Amino acid sequence: MDNCERPIGVFDSGLGGLTVVKEILKNLPNENIIFFGDTGRVPYGGRSKETITQYVKDDMDFLLSHGVKAVVIACNTADSMARETVENLYNIPIIGVVSPAAKKAANATKNGRIGVIGTKATVKSGAYLRAISAYSPETEVFVAACPLLVPLVEEGRFQKGDIVPETVLKEYLEPLKEKEIDTLILGCTHYPLLYDIVASILPDVQIICSGPASTEALIETLSVNSLLNRSSSPGSISYFVSDSPDSFSKNGSIFIGKEINSGVKLVNL
Ligand code: DGL
Repeated sequence: MDNCERPIGVFDSGLGGLTVVKEILKNLPNENIIFFGDTGRVPYGGRSKETITQYVKDDMDFLLSHGVKAVVIACNTADSMARETVENLYNIPIIGVVSPAAKKAANATKNGRIGVIGTKATVKSGAYLRAISAYSPETEVFVAACPLLVPLVEEGRFQKGDIVPETVLKEYLEPLKEKEIDTLILGCTHYPLLYDIVASILPDVQIICSGPASTEALIETLSVNSLLNRSSSPGSISYFVSDSPDSFSKNGSIFIGKEINSGVKLVNL
């Protein structure tokens, strides 16, 4: 197979990474994609660096065994905690979510005050602080860990009008509102599902999501490495999970914005 026709590998701890796949499909419709959701071990966000790093190596090994030409780490937690390790281990272009979102936010802020919400592990890693200050050293960054959000989203509780996620988000976002941020990074690929609620709590704040930011970085990386698939036929997508393909098909379609009716395969890592 021509190098360019090889698939792009994308992984997340669970369903969240599908919000990134949605953007890739929109912008690179001719690319073949292999998505792996580690649904048997989600969430990663409350775990130690050692455990997350081991899981990420498993995820990478699985995707590499399918001959991928590049990997998108569609998980802020994985990217924050294990990026350096995997970059040193694997000789393949690896695109994350943290640096692209940090760059977008640094360019977007007018008052130099950026908020970031993410999992406990993402916040603990300090990855966003480092990435934003690399682009814009003067910018002030305010981070908040929101451990209840991933379980809520995985349970399908993200609709505007649902008092449970609305109450939880109000409590998490209030301290950032008080800091007068003008830009907020949704630093977890599950959070775009909560976009409408966040926007209603912070109506004047620009919201940056992982999907569009990392897709721009992916296009740039593929192009620099002459790996863009120039085929004119639509690409294929294969889904693999480490638990319950049925519930992935059912819930995943909300994340990706289209039916997942092709076979979702169960794998044992
Ligand atoms: N979707 C993952 C992220 O972007 C987090 C989910 C988890 O805690 O596993 O951080």
